Amino acid sequence: MGRGPRVVLLGKQGAGKGTQAARLAEHYGIPHVSTGELLRAAAAAGTEFGKKAEEYMNRGELVPDDVVFGLLAERVAAGDRVENGFVLDGFPRTDTQAIELDRALEGHPLDIAINLDVPTETVLDRIAGRRVCENCGATYHVSLPPKKDWTCDECGGKVVQRADDTEDAVMRRLELYEQETVPIIDYYRKLGKLEVVDGEGDGDDVFKRLVTAVDSRL
Ligand code: AP5
Ligand code: MG
Repeated sequence: MGRGPRVVLLGKQGAGKGTQAARLAEHYGIPHVSTGELLRAAAAAGTEFGKKAEEYMNRGELVPDDVVFGLLAERVAAGDRVENGFVLDGFPRTDTQAIELDRALEGHPLDIAINLDVPTETVLDRIAGRRVCENCGATYHVSLPPKKDWTCDECGGKVVQRADDTEDAVMRRLELYEQETVPIIDYYRKLGKLEVVDGEGDGDDVFKRLVTAVDSRL
């Protein structure tokens, strides 16, 4: 098999980016890189960096670029080779970040930027019921819980509500999505990289649509 695809997954908070990025990563054998997960891990580790990030996250604000770029650089240095493919979830989400990503990928451009499209009423419902493993970040929903007593199926960690899934933080995140992230959908459209995929309905159906979109670009 040739190299894996280089994919950016865009979509509102709660659209299912994390859920589907994990499945795409497994399907194509590529790393799943989520800036939200990297930031939550730094916060849990209690580093100076992490504590600073946590304050922004819990308010629903974007974390400053230097922190996000620093964590991504550490992750890439730890062994991922961008030319072999990846799925990026939650990055880029401002035009500065999109431009920086293009620069960093020079010579190995993105294959596709996907807008996982879900209406706001649906994402609010999904976020209200979301539960995540505090150890590995695996995502569940109250309607689809882990097999045993809110213990993660993957690693045995405790499955809890995310600290930024409060009403105020969610409203702020959605507002920032419209202001900062929606413009980059247009940026990728102009570059001819954009595919819009319907993120509503059964997760398996959404996954099939995503694979069809990615395969069409390989
Ligand atoms: P991040 O962790 O990226 O959060 P987000 O963007 O708010 O997105 P979510 O993780 O909330 O949604 P998702 O689309 O992954 O949905 P999920 O798969 O969980 O970022 C958190 C914070 O970190 C930001 O607010 C910011 O502070 C900071 N940050 C991160 N990146 C940054 C950056 N680049 N620059 C600056 N700051 C940054 O699904 C949601 C729920 O729905 C789950 O319960 C799931 O089980 C369920 N679900 C999924 N699919 C379906 C389906 N088909 N049907 C029914 N339920 C479903
Ligand atoms: Mg996520």
